[in-house]
Amino acid sequence: MHLTTVLTPILAAVVAAIHDSNDVEPCAQISKLVEDANENHISARVPHDLAHRCLLSMPFESDRAVDFLHQARKILEFQSTIDILKNPPSGYTMPSTDILGGIDTILGKVKSNSYTSQFEMDLELTQLIKTAHDGHLVFQLCSQSIFTYQIDMPLVSISTDGLALPQVYTLDDAKLQRTVSKAVSPLVSINGTDAATYLELYAAGQNLQDRDAQYNRLFPAPARSVTNTPTNVNGIWASIGDWTEGAQLTLKFGNGTEKTIEKTATPSEKFFSYKNGTNLYNIACLPRDLSTAPSSLSGAEKASSEIAGLPSTTWRNSANSIAGYYSKVPGLEDTAIIFLPTFSSSAAEVAQLAVDFLQNATEAGKKNVLIDLSSNPGGYMSIGIDLSRIFFPHAVPYTATRYRAHDAAKYLTKAYSRDNSTDTSNVFAYRQMVRPDQKIDFSSWDDMYGPHDILGSSASSLLANFNYTSTSSKGFPINGYGPVPLNPNSSYFPAENIALITDGDCVSTCAFFVKLMKRQGVRTITFGGRPRNEPMQGVGGVKGGQSLGINYINGYIAQANGLIADSVNSGSPLLTDAEWKAFNESSPSTTASLQWSGNLNLRNEYDPEDGQTPLQFVYEAAECRLFYTLENYVERESVWQAAAKAMFGGGECVEGSIMGKGSLGS
Ligand SMILES: *[C@@H]1O[C@H](CO)[C@@H](O)[C@H](O)[C@H]1NC(C)=O
Ligand SMILES: *[C@@H]1O[C@H](CO)[C@@H](O)[C@H](O)[C@H]1NC(C)=O
Ligand SMILES: *[C@@H]1O[C@H](CO)[C@@H](O)[C@H](O)[C@H]1NC(C)=O
Ligand SMILES: *[C@@H]1O[C@H](CO)[C@@H](O)[C@H](O)[C@H]1NC(C)=O
Ligand SMILES: *[C@@H]1O[C@H](CO)[C@@H](O)[C@H](O)[C@H]1NC(C)=O
Ligand SMILES: *[C@@H]1O[C@H](CO)[C@@H](O)[C@H](O)[C@H]1NC(C)=O
Ligand SMILES: *[C@@H]1O[C@H](CO)[C@@H](O)[C@H](O)[C@H]1NC(C)=O
Ligand SMILES: *[C@@H]1O[C@H](CO)[C@@H](O)[C@H](O)[C@H]1NC(C)=O
Repeated sequence: MHLTTVLTPILAAVVAAIHDSNDVEPCAQISKLVEDANENHISARVPHDLAHRCLLSMPFESDRAVDFLHQARKILEFQSTIDILKNPPSGYTMPSTDILGGIDTILGKVKSNSYTSQFEMDLELTQLIKTAHDGHLVFQLCSQSIFTYQIDMPLVSISTDGLALPQVYTLDDAKLQRTVSKAVSPLVSINGTDAATYLELYAAGQNLQDRDAQYNRLFPAPARSVTNTPTNVNGIWASIGDWTEGAQLTLKFGNGTEKTIEKTATPSEKFFSYKNGTNLYNIACLPRDLSTAPSSLSGAEKASSEIAGLPSTTWRNSANSIAGYYSKVPGLEDTAIIFLPTFSSSAAEVAQLAVDFLQNATEAGKKNVLIDLSSNPGGYMSIGIDLSRIFFPHAVPYTATRYRAHDAAKYLTKAYSRDNSTDTSNVFAYRQMVRPDQKIDFSSWDDMYGPHDILGSSASSLLANFNYTSTSSKGFPINGYGPVPLNPNSSYFPAENIALITDGDCVSTCAFFVKLMKRQGVRTITFGGRPRNEPMQGVGGVKGGQSLGINYINGYIAQANGLIADSVNSGSPLLTDAEWKAFNESSPSTTASLQWSGNLNLRNEYDPEDGQTPLQFVYEAAECRLFYTLENYVERESVWQAAAKAMFGGGECVEGSIMGKGSLGS
């Protein structure tokens, strides 16, 4: 007896391994592969199908899912575009979407037992959220980042001269062609579909609002956000995570050769070790006691060496989040270049470097400035405003926003109506906020809240992003506001001698900076996009006025409840009992039933001429468009060279990219 209990499990395991690996839990199979890989000091690559089966073996608890969806729905009520997305104005190039309706559909499916794993529901919800194509609206759900996916074949989209329509090549082929002039064939189809059409469809899931910008994300990007881990080194084509697609792809080249490639998956956790899907779900999805969770290490920016692929320069900050260049490449003799891959940075450093470099460039006799914003994901809004003021010290940066009016936002605004703290970023505290002209404040909480009926949505009055005077500080300067003296006090370069370089993948504060510069007459040149002789937008990323983490919403709600309770106790309640009840009912629960995090777009941003149409629904073509050449992918300076020629040197732009002309010159 004793003998069998010891032997049986061993025998069973051996039989399973020999017989049918389907009998062993898929997550356990992955754990074993990961263990082996770690022992051999290689990174674990597991079959795509096995990863998929492991995820599908996660259980589904409908009660938790219902609680979570109710919470998510209330959070989404704060998303400023939620009504407009159902019936967007004509300038918007993405399809309409009904996100709250989609949540209700998913709730219905939960109630009719349509899901068997957490992964299935999370995937549907993730896809629903992505239909907003809003980089500020992101849900990180517990089952969605367990694996990353890859294809070992980065692609590039290249034009022979920047003007001819581009074709898709493998990056390896493209490099071969360049180094040994080997004749290589373009990729003509993927699984039987024309390559560009297939890629365009594949790219359409990206949270960018422009199809050309989406297309560019498939391919390698220049040092995307240098301060953080580069996220698009090989392009998203090489990191396919879309489960609606199969595990294999057949590539056909122009010379008739076919190749089959396999997608693989890598667990995000180096020591992935789970017995089964339940075990994985318990750890990844059930709420943790936050007080015992390790606090994430962040903050200190590490000093970096020179930016790979760019010339050496003395004009760069320690994190490489801004750098100034003079290039020896022909055609750039008169041009100073500012490389600006992110706005998440030390604001004071950025300001100092920009002023010093522009000063030096003027004294060195440079005539033109190019600002390279390619793949800039945004960051601190105040840096965008400050930089625009460094270029144009006398232009008042116009900012005007609205947040969505609904019960929770209304009672938050009312609850903060007596707030006299110094939190200049609390949009619900009307005493902190000012009108777009920066001169007039609001007389009461409902003077700011409204609500107003705007494009079929209920929205607040127009308010500036923030009060520049109270926000500007030594650490987050805004040139000429608050304690920060106006320096420079006049423009180093006129607007016509400044041009912005983008690849459409310009998001959030980047989008906003482009807007402020454009209002002064600065032009934009954009690179890449789909193989079409058409204009391309310079900004394809979200143009929303404020991104807010869900934890901040929860924080505001908890703090407001404290203020209300104090006011009740002191005998002058901020809200009546009925109002407080309505506030509670419209507020998302601050205790989560599943682990997740997220962000939303709290405020829409508007132009001075149109306080109704949020900027992200307005189409704006760049003044000039060029396609990438292979040289451009390999030598960043060749992008600056091409941009300087097109913008300042009478060079051509892609045919059809500027209203009936091929050149910006006369
Ligand atoms: C056809 O082109 C592909 C892609 O450039 C290349 O890998 C392959 O070797 C070529 N086949 C032949 C037979 O030349
Ligand atoms: C491509 O074709 C293969 C073979 O027909 C199929 O197994 C796979 O699912 C397809 N892939 C995609 C992404 O459609
Ligand atoms: C999954 O693994 C855990 C151990 O982590 C075990 O307790 C549980 O019984 C297993 N569940 C199933 C369904 O096999
Ligand atoms: C510009 O900066 C360089 C150092 O990068 C320095 O050598 C040069 O003297 C400066 N020029 C002027 C005019 O200040
Ligand atoms: C701020 O508000 C609190 C409570 O409403 C009040 O006690 C305090 O005196 C106020 N402080 C200032 C500086 O106005
Ligand atoms: C902006 O903030 C400053 C400093 O706190 C304050 O003096 C000014 O009145 C505010 N602006 C408006 C329009 O309220
Ligand atoms: C502008 O700034 C320069 C350099 O800091 C200074 O010399 C000059 O006096 C300023 N001019 C005005 C009008 O403030
Ligand atoms: C609203 O919720 C808060 C916090 O959960 C609670 O303390 C308060 O009693 C509730 N108010 C009403 C009127 O139900």
